[in-house]
Amino acid sequence: MTDKLIVFDTTLRDGEQSPGVTLNTEEKIEIARQLARLGVDVIEAGFPVASPGDFNAVQRIAREVGPLMDGRTGEGRVNAPVTICGLARCVENDIQTAYDAIKDAPRHRIHVFLATSDIHLEFKLKISREQCKQRIREMVGFAKARCQDIEFSPEDAGRSDRAFLTEALAVAIEAGATTLNIPDTVGYNTPQQYGELIRYLRENTRGADSVVWSTHCHNDLGLATANSLAGVSNGARQVEVAMNGIGERAGNTALEEVVMNVHTHPQVYPVHHTINTRLLFSTSRMVADLSGMSVQANKAIVGRNAFLHESGIHQDGVLKNKQTYEIIRPEDVGVTTGNLALGKHSGRHAFKTKLEELGYGGSALSDTQFQQAFVKFKSLADSKKSGVTDGDMHALVADVRSAA
Ligand code: KIV
Ligand code: ZN
Repeated sequence: MTDKLIVFDTTLRDGEQSPGVTLNTEEKIEIARQLARLGVDVIEAGFPVASPGDFNAVQRIAREVGPLMDGRTGEGRVNAPVTICGLARCVENDIQTAYDAIKDAPRHRIHVFLATSDIHLEFKLKISREQCKQRIREMVGFAKARCQDIEFSPEDAGRSDRAFLTEALAVAIEAGATTLNIPDTVGYNTPQQYGELIRYLRENTRGADSVVWSTHCHNDLGLATANSLAGVSNGARQVEVAMNGIGERAGNTALEEVVMNVHTHPQVYPVHHTINTRLLFSTSRMVADLSGMSVQANKAIVGRNAFLHESGIHQDGVLKNKQTYEIIRPEDVGVTTGNLALGKHSGRHAFKTKLEELGYGGSALSDTQFQQAFVKFKSLADSKKSGVTDGDMHALVADVRSAA
């Protein structure tokens, strides 16, 4: 049996930090319910000290979504309630407030963070490395006195001194952290650097074997998914992700991308997950609608075009055997609409199949009418930027029939 990959979803915390996104409490609860159904292991529900509204939303998620088992059981899926997590800086009031917000969930976690890179220590926090370690010891200990499940993140780990990181992380372990999350806060690392960082920390931190190692990658260079997967290849067993990859600046690692990578390549990633992949598309749509952050058409896994084929050669291929151009079955991620995009590159085979799908199979059109319709279709496709719609197809058929 392979190791379980813990899917920690931060759509409602880091995701909500996307410029322009604010979700109200009811919307957050709706998304949290869907994430629980999807099968994520941990929901980071917010940053409770940030505002009374954030506190209230996290507390309601802890109380209303924390106990839910609806949709989480079943073949290959989680058989436990979701863990509700609240974020806190290394400050007593933050930690106490986070604890008060999450404590009613059957499973709850406090996520404490403090920057460890020299640039953050010197200019943002104005503390020394020794003071940083001291604060980690005291505040992780303060959190541990309230809650068993404690995650610690050295913010900007991707640009921190490695030797110092191992010292800071060892302090966090001694003080009671159970998960160590390694943020590439500014999306600076390459996959090779990030993978090596995870391996180095696991091999050189005192007490490393007693904790779960986690990835948290930002997408500033478009490498968040690749970096997270490099982390998994080097021993991370938790990934921090957000639906559709939303988050600060260029966003976080996209949940759907990491999950479908480990799903598609079990021989590469020695882990299993408990996500119900058939809910990925609907979850993506819900997050896009409620957050107002639309998904780009060519976005991997959940984009409108992710399973559409337009060129005649590709359409002919998938009509003969879908695997010629599909590495994932669309229905496995919950996409149920047709996979042919009719446009100027489409050929006769796809055109005929589309006509059949629309009810014009068999002898609905004579050979001559079919030829006429195909010629008209090609010239229409040439002139339309957005592709030929079902409505256009019905009109084409009516046109050639009325000309007869
Ligand atoms: O990117 C980051 O460093 C974070 C931490 C709070 C974990 O989001
Ligand atoms: Zn982040």
